[in-house]
Amino acid sequence: MRADLSAVLYDEDEIAAKINELAVRIDQDYEGKDLLMVGILNGAVMVMADLSRALRNHCEMDWMAISSYGSGVASSGVVRILKDMNTSIVDRHVLIVEDIVDTGLTLSYLIENLRSRNPASIEVCAGFRKPEAARNRRVDVKYLGFDIPSDFVVGYGLDYAGRYRNLRGLGILDPKVYS
Ligand code: PRP
Repeated sequence: MRADLSAVLYDEDEIAAKINELAVRIDQDYEGKDLLMVGILNGAVMVMADLSRALRNHCEMDWMAISSYGSGVASSGVVRILKDMNTSIVDRHVLIVEDIVDTGLTLSYLIENLRSRNPASIEVCAGFRKPEAARNRRVDVKYLGFDIPSDFVVGYGLDYAGRYRNLRGLGILDPKVYS
């Protein structure tokens, strides 16, 4: 797998250090509150697994699966919920956990949807953010791992055609793999 990368952006240790930093902030910010972390499948599994285990305080976890309507329609930000949470979020402190924010459209739709369910609060934690989302600030990512370039990145939950999610670091996929 590693041979398919043209560069490693962040290795396992760098990611772990950043996740630990985020966990310290989250522990402080949610002290005395009931935290519900909602992971967005599939990419968020790695961030969720590592972040939740880095916390000192209790948290609950739930999951959603969503799908955009394809690249043409994705720009409208319309997404379909394939799997909803099992938990009610009324009066809960919700932390959405994502692997990457690319355009920010998925998250902005999701936040609007979840807000209508009357949670006590909603914040976002994401491992990585691409420049477009950083520029347009459609979504406020309170807990961000790394701002990354717009290259095709894989690893740490991010895939190409279903593969590479299980790479421990984040790397740029060599164009020879997909061209
Ligand atoms: C990725 C990522 C976000 C979304 C971000 O999911 O996990 O959910 O794209 O894109 P946006 O900011 O441009 O809306 P993807 O659809 O690739 O599914 P996956 O997590 O199962 O890989």
